[in-house]
Amino acid sequence: MRMPLLFAVLLAAGAAPAADPVKFGDALNQKFHHPRCLQCHQFNSAAHQGRAYNTHSARYLCDKCHSANLTGLPRGEWIAPPEAMDWTSLNAQETCRLIKRNLSRGDLAANLREHLLRDVRIRWALDNGMTPGGRFPSVPGGYAEFARQAREWLDDGMLCE
Ligand code: HEC
Ligand code: HEC
Repeated sequence: MRMPLLFAVLLAAGAAPAADPVKFGDALNQKFHHPRCLQCHQFNSAAHQGRAYNTHSARYLCDKCHSANLTGLPRGEWIAPPEAMDWTSLNAQETCRLIKRNLSRGDLAANLREHLLRDVRIRWALDNGMTPGGRFPSVPGGYAEFARQAREWLDDGMLCE
């Protein structure tokens, strides 16, 4: 079988056609803006009517209800982030810059890799979704797809735009 000339030349040179580097907006941003991430990340935001301002206004001791046997998280890990980690209304570039700023103490790349691939709350959002009120839909694609997309983004230099 005859190969098209260009393909044959590329093969001979051992080169793959150059692909654009992966950006945060390509796939990850959509995952970050899924309700399973947002409902927790906007918990302490009045502007976005986070749960601290409506359904959960008088509640503390979070894992009395969000117990380990429901969520699969170790005790004490079901907690909401500070308002400075709310990216609800931000676009892809802004979301990307915000999480980098928030994880920039020490080695940013290592912090991002560790958090995206190992954080137990992220795992809950991707594969579990169980609350005291029942199971809410988890992020489509689950951990397997998220981890692949996160690694591609990290390996290509964590580009925001
Ligand atoms: C149960 C609540 C909860 C859920 C659900 C959750 N997070 Fe978080 N997230 C937190 C908390 C708390 C922190 C702060 C952790 C710390 O400082 O160690 C955090 C921190 C982060 C950070 C660090 C930087 C920053 O600005 O927030 C990233 C990135 C992140 N989460 C991504 C996600 C993604 C993506 C999802 C969904 C797939 C998600 N989180 C779901 C609670 C949650
Ligand atoms: C009295 C029991 C109770 C306590 C205490 C409690 N929750 Fe909840 N939580 C629920 C119930 C029930 C739901 C599901 C119904 C709803 O959406 O409000 C829920 C839902 C949530 C959700 C939405 C999950 C999603 O992805 O849609 C978040 C986030 C949340 N809780 C965080 C917290 C945090 C953080 C605390 C501690 C400050 C806390 N909860 C304390 C009962 C509780």
